[in-house]
Amino acid sequence: MDHPAPPPRIGDLAPDFEARSTIGPVRLSAHRGRWLVLFSHPADFTPVCTTEFVALAREAPAFAQRGCDLMALSVDSLFAHFAWLRMIRDRFGVEVRFPIIEDPTMVIARAFGMVCAADRDSGAVRSSFFIDPHGVIRAMTCYPANLGRSIPEMLRMLDGLRAVDAQGALAPANWQPGDPLLEAPGHDLDAVFDAEEATAWFLRQTGPSA
Ligand code: BEZ
Repeated sequence: MDHPAPPPRIGDLAPDFEARSTIGPVRLSAHRGRWLVLFSHPADFTPVCTTEFVALAREAPAFAQRGCDLMALSVDSLFAHFAWLRMIRDRFGVEVRFPIIEDPTMVIARAFGMVCAADRDSGAVRSSFFIDPHGVIRAMTCYPANLGRSIPEMLRMLDGLRAVDAQGALAPANWQPGDPLLEAPGHDLDAVFDAEEATAWFLRQTGPSA
């Protein structure tokens, strides 16, 4: 019996693919040199997904400002995507210009672990993969079908990843752009005993982040 490849994890190279999308053929590796958020949605013409796409289309310039492309994916056909985008444009006044891939066989969704090998439909979850300019998966989130993603949190994720990369530092709980980051702790026992306070050897702020 064939065993499917395990789903990718944080730190893995994102599986490459080529697919048909609403803006023509797309290839994941063509986004090297830029950030990419690849995300799945359960189905076109559904209420929560519609609110996500309206919100993402409105915030598309904020992703572009961060050097980040968006790429959506669902099992629906290209023509269903087109009809949904037309309805979104007519009803909400926003044009979704980032690509939406058709993945009728769920081959891409399976390669990313967005669905289990045994799943017969891809309607279960909203997965998002944050892929860095080297093609490495740096973060992933998974929301249920009945709860929409937070676009500000997606932007904060990108800001946080970019800030920790730029400063070789760590982002604390509830970090927001401009807040201080934390220094990575060292591994030297003398520094532990010599520290002025009990936490000073492992819990130290850097300067404010850019
Ligand atoms: C929605 O986007 O509203 C939705 C999608 C699939 C199942 C339930 C809700």
